[in-house]
Amino acid sequence: MRVPDKSKNYFERLAVYNLHLFLLANNLAIYDSFYVPATLLSDCYQLFKNWVSFADVNHEISFDALPSRTKSEKYVLLHSKWKSLYDPKSDSISNLSNGIALLKQIFDWWWVGVYRVNGMQLMLGVFQGPPACTNIPKGKGVCGLAWELGKTLVVEDVNAFPGHIACSWESKSEIVIPIRLESGEIWGVLDADSCFLSHFDAIDKIELEEFCRNLGIFLS
Ligand code: SME
Repeated sequence: MRVPDKSKNYFERLAVYNLHLFLLANNLAIYDSFYVPATLLSDCYQLFKNWVSFADVNHEISFDALPSRTKSEKYVLLHSKWKSLYDPKSDSISNLSNGIALLKQIFDWWWVGVYRVNGMQLMLGVFQGPPACTNIPKGKGVCGLAWELGKTLVVEDVNAFPGHIACSWESKSEIVIPIRLESGEIWGVLDADSCFLSHFDAIDKIELEEFCRNLGIFLS
């Protein structure tokens, strides 16, 4: 995706702002008075606010700037952007899709997505990356074990992990974090795979656990 640079972003905002002023002026002329329907003012404000916050989200996440950011900086970006991107008016699929897309965009892991609890199995949910296994029994693979144990598993070398389920031969290391609802019940897991050995560390564990805590609150 092409992200507008700062100057273009500024002029785009200015153009939208001017369009709103034009619409307002037109309505003033139509109504032939200084009375502007409150709904129009509020619509314009909402449009402008939504447009600016959406542009901000996309502007900040510039592919050019990301490689130079440290892992911790990327997580700061993730948490703040996820909060502004999350839309309580939309459903869990829309919000999860944006959350997973954000992770992929910022970290560019080989595969990232969620598996959700469905009876005694985990069922593939929203993800980014190559097609993956659809059902994982409780206790099986890294995902099923993280669910059974109710704790994060960081796997430095998936080939050395007994029972690892290989959805792709490209995957070398993995992290799986349980997602809990506010009730404490496990909703599912977040799974991230990397093409590099020992890619995930204590920072990823702490930060992704925070991400999943927020996800769990939103899903509750
Ligand atoms: N490797 C996982 C299976 C899911 S894929 O990596 C997307 C596991 O062992 O549970």
